[in-house]
Amino acid sequence: MSEIENNKINGEKMEDKKTDKIIVAPSILSADFANLERDIKTVAKAGAEWVHIDVMDGHFVPNITIGVPVVKSIRQITDLTLDVHLMIENPEKYVDAFADAGSDIITVHYEATKDKTEDVLRQIKKSGCLAGLSIKPKTGVDEIKQYIGLADLILVMTVEPGFGGQKFMQDCADKLPEIKALQKEGQYLEVDGGINAETSKYCTKRGANALVAGSYVFKSDNIEEAISSLR
Ligand code: DX5
Ligand code: ZN
Repeated sequence: MSEIENNKINGEKMEDKKTDKIIVAPSILSADFANLERDIKTVAKAGAEWVHIDVMDGHFVPNITIGVPVVKSIRQITDLTLDVHLMIENPEKYVDAFADAGSDIITVHYEATKDKTEDVLRQIKKSGCLAGLSIKPKTGVDEIKQYIGLADLILVMTVEPGFGGQKFMQDCADKLPEIKALQKEGQYLEVDGGINAETSKYCTKRGANALVAGSYVFKSDNIEEAISSLR
């Protein structure tokens, strides 16, 4: 049973767990796809709490990656929380399938939902998953203010979504305090893109409590050290 499934049963415990530590979510975009099971077990052993899964459709972003069957297979081999980041258009068409495949958290982009953001967040919750809402670098906090209370997680992109290994955009992380101030206790504030031991500190100081890191973790010679250096 994953951490979140477990916590759904012990509601009170979940609040404690959510707030008192920084979550590390390695992005498997930088893992070896021919050895996904090995790589996921390596990060689990090295102390990661979540596995971040980047789903791209070639429309919302100029890249194509993982789909529902891969999430389903990953679910079979790990109890880690599956943090599924949908960088796709019309995400409402696929939310239920990703939930059925065993996702724990499903994050959609504000830019891909706009007039239907509230409905999609509710759909994700109804599916039994935690609901995340993400913003790209050029989207301001003002645009999502009204949805912050509805989402279990806000994901601030600190690179243009689409590829791993890009440079951290500091001005994106400067949005964090304003979002944090609007969140309720126990909600997650996640950053994604160019996160390493240095940029992670910039983000956690500003309120981030969940860190996605792809290349920094998987390209490191010592994955355990890399993960603990992020906290
Ligand atoms: C980019 C993805 C990220 C990516 C991060 O669109 O959302 O999750 O894997 O990779 P790094 O940590 O290498 O910037
Ligand atoms: Zn991501």
